[in-house]
Amino acid sequence: MSTAEEIKQKLDIVEIVSEHTQLHKSGKNFRGLCPFHAEKESSFYVFPDRGGWHCFGRCNTGGDIFAFVMKRENIQFVEALRALAERAGVDLKPHPQAEAQAREREGLHRLNEAAVDYYHNLLVHATAGKAALEYLKKRGVTLETVMDFKLGYAPASHHQLHPHLEGLEFPRTEIVTAGLARQNDDGSIHDLFRNRLLFPIRDASGRPAGFGGRALDDATPKYLNTPATPVFDKRSLLYGLDRAREAIRKQDRAVIVEGYMDVIAVHQAGYRDTVATMGVALTQNQLLGLKRLTRNLVLALDADEAGVEATLKGVEVAVSTLGDKVTPVPTWQGVVRYERILDAEIRVLALPQGLDPDEVILQDTSRWQDLLNTAPPVMDFLLDALAIQVQADAKWQDKVALVRQLRPLFDEIKDPIRWSYYTQRLSRRLGVEERLLSQALSPSAEEDARRNPTRAPGRPSTTNHAARKATISQLGLEEYTLALCLASPELKREAETLPAELFEDSLNRELFRLWQDTSDVDSLRDEAGEPLREHLDSVLAHPLPPLSQDKRFAAFKQAGLRLLERHLRRELAARRDSLSPVSGDTQRNLSFTDTAVEETGEDSNPLEEMGTNIQLRQVLQAERSLSKKAIP
Ligand code: UTP
Ligand code: MN
Repeated sequence: MSTAEEIKQKLDIVEIVSEHTQLHKSGKNFRGLCPFHAEKESSFYVFPDRGGWHCFGRCNTGGDIFAFVMKRENIQFVEALRALAERAGVDLKPHPQAEAQAREREGLHRLNEAAVDYYHNLLVHATAGKAALEYLKKRGVTLETVMDFKLGYAPASHHQLHPHLEGLEFPRTEIVTAGLARQNDDGSIHDLFRNRLLFPIRDASGRPAGFGGRALDDATPKYLNTPATPVFDKRSLLYGLDRAREAIRKQDRAVIVEGYMDVIAVHQAGYRDTVATMGVALTQNQLLGLKRLTRNLVLALDADEAGVEATLKGVEVAVSTLGDKVTPVPTWQGVVRYERILDAEIRVLALPQGLDPDEVILQDTSRWQDLLNTAPPVMDFLLDALAIQVQADAKWQDKVALVRQLRPLFDEIKDPIRWSYYTQRLSRRLGVEERLLSQALSPSAEEDARRNPTRAPGRPSTTNHAARKATISQLGLEEYTLALCLASPELKREAETLPAELFEDSLNRELFRLWQDTSDVDSLRDEAGEPLREHLDSVLAHPLPPLSQDKRFAAFKQAGLRLLERHLRRELAARRDSLSPVSGDTQRNLSFTDTAVEETGEDSNPLEEMGTNIQLRQVLQAERSLSKKAIP
């Protein structure tokens, strides 16, 4: 039994929910006012026999005990797990290896904290730091901001920080692992940062992970960052996120700039919803971190990067560097894809030529506000930038070339309304008939096939003959659906139409969500902490029988239908229980039986197993007619 299951068994969902709303017995279930929205009817149900709950009212969501606590406390799955484990008296035994890693990371955070203090103290109090402090003042940074961000100064010597840390009994090896010092050939060490202004970089929870160090002389590189360490990965950290979290959540917007100095200046001016990438293009990991706070993102790009040249280049190629600058944009296609995957709106703030955000702010704060207000959505931005080159009176060859360039972008737009909106815009712009343009921009059949090649199920690729084939009866409907997903990355698009809420088990639900957010099973495994990883492995231990791509699509569609059917059936059953007396009319609508979805024969073909024995239409009709009736 998994830890999560053990917790579920030990806790009484009725008791836990009752702490937040008054429940009444209703048939074999319980019912009450939904604790998540104001209502007069009791549309909130608890199903003790399977440990689930559901609000059939405005929330129209449900799940297990973890999902309840997550929603109630507005916390992540792992936090809910921890809270409920404690309540149930269940030990969350971390993996021994994970435990060692956690200890190492903790040590590195402590070490970095000591370095932050040391460098900060030098900047603020020591004579050596005077020039650096003066430099900051010249750039408009106040002393208060210096304290807030705990900026620091690394003196010119090779041997300043490490003797101090060693004096605090931090082992040499750890100082090197933290990237604060480098090892010499003779085994001695020397400090990494010398004569630099230091920006401590913290993770989202505010733990110091590393530094960005700006040269104060003509040393190169201009910015030296901590090398990759177990706690410092500049591809997943965002500078300033720890301080910006609250503002991002409150204002429901995150602004992404490129420089440390920019974050500092923008925060100082009162715009606290700003974070920076650190010399690398924006990654999916970073976006996923932001997605938990907001879905409205603004990308601040300098004029060159936002310019026509770079924009054209960026549609297809990863823009890695532009001069010596790194653009935060992966590819425009990537950005539009992120918009879709993250269900986000990404706007583009093009900076005035030659100015960084900190300079804009220094000149005139209200200009920053204007730029924020007028930043267009990424597709509008791209169409405008590209269409500047190709107007309605352009040569048709140029129009064709432009349309070809835009294809990958349109491919990433899934929503038909948006798709048609942008096709219309482009049609007007280019003076090309909309119908023709639509055709030209629609992915062709071969294109589709190329992009979704039939792939053998991913993991585990080892020929484990002992492993049982995955069928619904062995895995359960939820796990079977999940197994299908894991084996078929090409299902991702299709899967967007399946609400994660249809998975009642939080482990399945969280894994399904993570799968949607990650590129492959390996990164999913990396992202998933325990006990999700354990659960992932148990699902993967049942390889699917080989299915063609078509069959997998069909199987997934049917599995989704079954999940929906199960949901509706449960809703009907719950409402039937609470309707008394049941009217003849309702009874007719409910005439199909509660055939157990899970009870299907062993070893049968998974596709046959999924043959639904009721029509979805019937269920939907029944549901509609039921929900029209006033629930007493
Ligand atoms: P910029 O060159 O735009 O620097 O690099 P900046 O932030 O405007 O700095 P100031 O205003 O000259 O002081 C933008 C970001 O790219 C990364 C840093 O994170 C920097 O903040 N970068 C830049 C590096 O990592 N290494 C470099 O050598 C240069
Ligand atoms: Mn700058």
